[in-house]
Amino acid sequence: MPNPRPHTPGEIAQKFSAHFRKKPEIYRAPGRVNLIGEHTDYNDGFVLPVAVDLSCWVGVTPRQDRKLVIYAENYSDQAEVDLDAIGSWQKKPSAVYPVGVAWSLEQAGHRLKGCDLYIAGDVPMGSGLSSSASIEVATALALLETAGIQLDRTKVALLCQQAENEFVGARCGIMDQFISCHGKAEHALLLDCRSLHARAIPLPSDAALVVCNTMVKHNLAANEYNNRRAECEEGVQLLKKAFPAIAALRDVTSAQLEQHRQLLPGKIYRRCRHVVTENERVLHAAAAFEKGDQLTIARLMADSHTSLRDDYEVSCQELDLMVEIAVSQKGVLGARMTGGGFGGCTVNLVEHAAVEPFVLSVGREYQQRTGLKPDIYSLEAAQGAEAAVLVPNERC
Ligand code: GLA
Repeated sequence: MPNPRPHTPGEIAQKFSAHFRKKPEIYRAPGRVNLIGEHTDYNDGFVLPVAVDLSCWVGVTPRQDRKLVIYAENYSDQAEVDLDAIGSWQKKPSAVYPVGVAWSLEQAGHRLKGCDLYIAGDVPMGSGLSSSASIEVATALALLETAGIQLDRTKVALLCQQAENEFVGARCGIMDQFISCHGKAEHALLLDCRSLHARAIPLPSDAALVVCNTMVKHNLAANEYNNRRAECEEGVQLLKKAFPAIAALRDVTSAQLEQHRQLLPGKIYRRCRHVVTENERVLHAAAAFEKGDQLTIARLMADSHTSLRDDYEVSCQELDLMVEIAVSQKGVLGARMTGGGFGGCTVNLVEHAAVEPFVLSVGREYQQRTGLKPDIYSLEAAQGAEAAVLVPNERC
């Protein structure tokens, strides 16, 4: 399966002009794949995501009034909202993320201008590659720049997360918005989700980043995500009996958890064990990437998947099968589920020479065993969000 063909700035400009009869400014923000560190971000822990070369694109021009007119290409739908009455807007799926971002920016005291917006995404929706964060961040840049407001990128990420938490109602962590804002070409970022300090970690030059989409998204995902967060919070409350100073599972080591496991009901213990051991795996993995220690990377990715499957219970048959098939192929340096779980994608590190046979053989076997034809992409680590520059012959 070839990669989805990314849009170009020229295409977005043309489509915008055809729709709104004006010439836009264009902004782009990428989706992401997470190498390791799943469900750790909302526990103040560590993650190792990569911004990928699939983006959301937003064309924008200012209006004279305080309205946002939002055309969402992926839904072939247009929505309108008055910036002074966002609270009474009837939420519709095609525009809930962009309107949520406008809401959180205004809540934070940033007075926006009315705008016409054309939104087009390369990131497959609902596949666990953070299409939503890419929409949020690209919209935030478009709205802020049009209003002449300069805002630090980490603040942009936090306000986008707030939009998702409070306007959309998904209690996501900061990973997706942060990497969409700060991604670095050819690198992953080791992000400390408490301090929001990030360090760039070079990706192996001999391996490609291959993403396999199971093509399923089980609809318990959103509910179960919020349940897992609540279970982690319960774990922290119970562990406080032994460690009053802890604020999050980030503050607990494996040894401490084992020593006091009798404080926790079985299920809560397993949830905590996933988070605590996953944090340790992220730090080891970052060091292994820096040393080029491929055996360790492979083991940590496998352990991460097992822990997500057995302790955190956010995998599913299709993800487990996709990983099982992947690790039996030649030239695979690591494979695991990526993102929130319950469907979506796996992430695989595959030696360049092995990518083509990997794509064919994993695609064939997965289809034989599930009846589903998976999308398999080889992605590049890309730069974070930016204003897109039109190359001269692309101008419309
Ligand atoms: C989703 C959320 C992230 C993170 C991952 C799991 O992608 O948006 O904040 O919690 O799930 O690691």
